[in-house]
Amino acid sequence: MSTTPFSVKLFSVLALLLLAFISSVLAESETSANSKAPIKPGNNDPRPTCVVKTLLNSTDDTPVILDAFKNCGHGGSIVFLNQTYNINTVMNTTGLRDCEIDIYGTLIWGKNISYWLNNSLPLGYQNQSSAWFLGGDNIKVRGHGYGTLDGNGQTWYDFVNGASNYPHRPHALTIWKATNSIFEGLRFVQSQMWTMTVIHSQNVLLQDIYVNSTSHDSKPARNTDGADTMFSDHITFKRWTVVNGDDSISLKANSTNIVIQDSTFYKGLGVAIGSIGQYKDVFETIENVYVDNITCYNTAYAAYIKTWTGQQVGYPPNGGGGGLGYAQNLTFTNFKMHNTTKTGAFYITQCTTFSGVAGDCNTSLFNLRDIHFTNITGDVGTSYVASMQCSAASPCSGIEIEGVDLMDVATVPETVTGLFKCSNVLNTTGFSC
Ligand SMILES: *[C@@H]1O[C@H](CO)[C@@H](O)[C@H](O)[C@H]1NC(C)=O
Ligand SMILES: *[C@@H]1O[C@H](CO)[C@@H](O)[C@H](O)[C@H]1NC(C)=O
Ligand SMILES: *[C@@H]1O[C@H](CO)[C@@H](O)[C@H](O)[C@H]1NC(C)=O
Ligand SMILES: *[C@@H]1O[C@H](CO)[C@@H](O)[C@H](O)[C@H]1NC(C)=O
Ligand SMILES: *[C@@H]1O[C@H](CO)[C@@H](O)[C@H](O)[C@H]1NC(C)=O
Ligand SMILES: *[C@@H]1O[C@H](CO)[C@@H](O)[C@H](O)[C@H]1NC(C)=O
Ligand SMILES: *[C@@H]1O[C@H](CO)[C@@H](O)[C@H](O)[C@H]1NC(C)=O
Ligand SMILES: *[C@@H]1O[C@H](CO)[C@@H](O)[C@H](O)[C@H]1NC(C)=O
Ligand SMILES: *[C@@H]1O[C@H](CO)[C@@H](O)[C@H](O)[C@H]1NC(C)=O
Ligand SMILES: *[C@@H]1O[C@H](CO)[C@@H](O)[C@H](O)[C@H]1NC(C)=O
Ligand SMILES: *[C@@H]1O[C@H](CO)[C@@H](O)[C@H](O)[C@H]1NC(C)=O
Ligand SMILES: *[C@@H]1O[C@H](CO)[C@@H](O)[C@H](O)[C@H]1NC(C)=O
Repeated sequence: MSTTPFSVKLFSVLALLLLAFISSVLAESETSANSKAPIKPGNNDPRPTCVVKTLLNSTDDTPVILDAFKNCGHGGSIVFLNQTYNINTVMNTTGLRDCEIDIYGTLIWGKNISYWLNNSLPLGYQNQSSAWFLGGDNIKVRGHGYGTLDGNGQTWYDFVNGASNYPHRPHALTIWKATNSIFEGLRFVQSQMWTMTVIHSQNVLLQDIYVNSTSHDSKPARNTDGADTMFSDHITFKRWTVVNGDDSISLKANSTNIVIQDSTFYKGLGVAIGSIGQYKDVFETIENVYVDNITCYNTAYAAYIKTWTGQQVGYPPNGGGGGLGYAQNLTFTNFKMHNTTKTGAFYITQCTTFSGVAGDCNTSLFNLRDIHFTNITGDVGTSYVASMQCSAASPCSGIEIEGVDLMDVATVPETVTGLFKCSNVLNTTGFSC
């Protein structure tokens, strides 16, 4: 970015104030601060701090960012100023330890599609890949309600033109092998694809997060999930706002002890369990999920569960099936709805198969059980409280639906939403199929 000498001075002063505020560093040490030379302050705070500064007219700020992680990623602090950082190279900043990262500005990802397609970092699941891997033990990433990751997503929405899971299209952020860590006060706008995936992680709290991926033309913001979890345990999402064109938050393979609370979702699909069961004969679970106090505006559903059929047709990401395992002990409670757009405020399908192929909905061996959908109020665009297509080969059981008070606003005049569509649902509580 280009800056005048005046604003450079302004930024220095700003950096100074921030530093003084954050770590009680003496003002004099700031003048030489940059990411290459961590500040080693006095007795009060032994924590080295790297302040990341954009270089004048730089087209790619990743070298200074990577330097900061190298120098302050273990037992240090990294500060992004209220500047705009251009990101034109993939970043892999994993294996951090006891590291505080404060973002007061905007990181904006470049539009060189062929670069990202050739270089995005693979997650090792489906063909998913990412622009930034970030992880470690005891890390704190704080955006203070202002720090922003901007994926320049419109470029990608236009480029893929609705194609699902376009190979090597990068996710904005992968939280990789993070343990005992916090992400808070961050903003994610116009994500390239999935906004973030929490993978191979334990004990991570993500709170006060704003996600907005909105297409400004006729090309859809498809695959712009707000967040996904995989192979992770004890992950908590609190006070999220998600505006997007796909799963608001989605829990996938081997997600256990997940909490989603006090959040508002706009336009996406709602809370998703799955899709899962995509890899033939592979055993996966989703277990102990608590989703509470959610407000939805124009989402497809409040919550939905999606498994592949028992028959493998093609290969991931867009084909597959035949996976094993179960999802159990899932609670969705205290939802306030405003105008869902699909059939069933709560929806289950075990019919997912290669696009364009008619799947056999009765073949999945992935079992769904012990599921609670309670205290759901407001307006929806459907006469069905729930539409549940479970597999005959492994019926759903232990489904409780209670305390539903919904109006169907798609009818004139409005009518009470009270129907249930079920196949292979055993052992119900609070309703009859
Ligand atoms: C930055 O770009 C401006 C405008 O292109 C130019 O005038 C200035 O000399 C450049 N500064 C540096 C340090 O390259
Ligand atoms: C960052 O700078 C912009 C102007 O460039 C200003 O509007 C904004 O308030 C600043 N944010 C913070 C957190 O200081
Ligand atoms: C991407 O890789 C392909 C070969 O796989 C190569 O032909 C192309 O030039 C590369 N593009 C860039 C931008 O590196
Ligand atoms: C995109 O990145 C490739 C390297 O992968 C580079 O060769 C090419 O010049 C870049 N294109 C633009 C428009 O910057
Ligand atoms: C990231 O860096 C770590 C440590 O160097 C390495 O083990 C890992 O394979 C890298 N991940 C990716 C996706 O490149
Ligand atoms: C989402 O972002 C768009 C602009 O991209 C804006 O018009 C809209 O108001 C935002 N939605 C919310 C709920 O913040
Ligand atoms: C529900 O979440 C909203 C934020 O979306 C919050 O303002 C409210 O206090 C929460 N309600 C309860 C009972 O915690
Ligand atoms: C998922 O977790 C289950 C139960 O812990 C384990 O048996 C299975 O191997 C895991 N699946 C994968 C794909 O790692
Ligand atoms: C079910 O999940 C809840 C969290 O929602 C947890 O508190 C409870 O212990 C779980 N029950 C069992 C039997 O694991
Ligand atoms: C039902 O959920 C609403 C939020 O949608 C909440 O205000 C209310 O307290 C809940 N009722 C009960 C009985 O928990
Ligand atoms: C409700 O959802 C329908 C799509 O099902 C949409 O056409 C309509 O504009 C929405 N109403 C409001 C008030 O947003
Ligand atoms: C209902 O389903 C649950 C969960 O599978 C199970 O624990 C319970 O024993 C079943 N009850 C009856 C009466 O079948």
